[in-house]
Amino acid sequence: MSQSPENKKGQVETTGHVWDGDLREYNNPLPRWWLWGFYGTIIFAIVYWILYPAWPYADTYTKGISTVSFQVPVIGPDGKPEKDSDGNAKMETKTEHWNARALFHQEMQTSPSALAQKEWLAKVKDMSFEQIAANPDTLNFARSMGHGLFGDHCAACHGTGGQGHLSKNPEGSYPNLADNAWIHGDSYEKIVSEITNGIQGNMPAFGALYKGEKLTDLAQYVLSLSHQSGVNEEAANRGKASFATCAGCHGANGMGNQAIGAPNLTDQAWAFVDVPGSKNYDEKLKLVEGVIANGLQHQMPKFGDRLSPEQIRLLAVYVRQLGGT
Ligand code: HEC
Ligand code: HEC
Repeated sequence: MSQSPENKKGQVETTGHVWDGDLREYNNPLPRWWLWGFYGTIIFAIVYWILYPAWPYADTYTKGISTVSFQVPVIGPDGKPEKDSDGNAKMETKTEHWNARALFHQEMQTSPSALAQKEWLAKVKDMSFEQIAANPDTLNFARSMGHGLFGDHCAACHGTGGQGHLSKNPEGSYPNLADNAWIHGDSYEKIVSEITNGIQGNMPAFGALYKGEKLTDLAQYVLSLSHQSGVNEEAANRGKASFATCAGCHGANGMGNQAIGAPNLTDQAWAFVDVPGSKNYDEKLKLVEGVIANGLQHQMPKFGDRLSPEQIRLLAVYVRQLGGT
């Protein structure tokens, strides 16, 4: 039986046990590098237990002494976030034991992209809307930030591209923000106030005043204003006189009134009545009759308590340029 060279030289220690005459057991010490590595892992584990959440006990766990700090809004006694004199949310530092959620908050506030966003926000803070829109860099910033905010807060109603939604039931319609037809006007200040305070759109019902043929004639006249094909001109002419009731809000020529949010009835952009999607003229007629008879109500929620004034300003720039103006 061959023996290993070390054994021959007698350099390797054995335990002294011998089996079957020549089977010996080596007594090799653990390699030094391995041993130190092993001690290293023990030290690492102890340091880790001290720093980070590690051991479960009862219904909780050891939290470790390592902490993560991040900014949170100050909540006032009324349970709402407090605001500073600029209307921005007041922030305070919150420190928690190390955990992934706190780390995420911290990263959202201190990552290079978050810091870049802060820098841009400071840059546009004192710029006018026109200045932000005129400078390609700040406009790009408004677009990218506005796009994110729009997706989170507005797209559910207005669609991801702001294209809105026309429903067969006019109460379920949401106006298109990506066209050039503004119900309330396209001034930045107006858009900011709409986002901040919400919108209450209201047209009274005229069902008691117009019924049967009178109602149909008036609806014919309304459809003639935007030159819908299929209008019965005779009926429209008869209906014209009744439009006096509507002129107070929609204007004598039906051009609308942005100050009170009465839409222009002479263009092809319908905000609430699905005239463009109607199968035939009769369907258009029924829809317009329905609006005259039942009136219209729409409500857009206010965002002043959810978005900061800076966010709303950027959204206004974003929304207005969706309309291509
Ligand atoms: C719950 C649905 C809803 C949400 C969410 C919503 N809106 Fe609206 N928005 C409406 C309705 C309904 C109207 C029409 C109000 C009216 O005139 O009757 C409207 C109208 C508007 C108008 C006026 C359009 C014009 O032609 O004058 C703007 C601008 C607008 N919304 C922007 C926004 C922005 C920006 C957000 C997100 C911060 C948003 N909306 C979120 C429902 C919504
Ligand atoms: C008190 C003001 C007022 C009067 C009077 C009024 N309207 Fe309106 N009308 C509005 C407002 C405001 C809206 C938008 C309603 C909303 O935001 O929900 C509207 C919406 C409409 C629409 C929908 C337009 C669209 O783009 O989808 C039609 C059609 C319409 N009115 C026709 C009439 C006719 C016809 C009369 C006369 C019988 C009339 N209105 C009288 C204020 C008025």
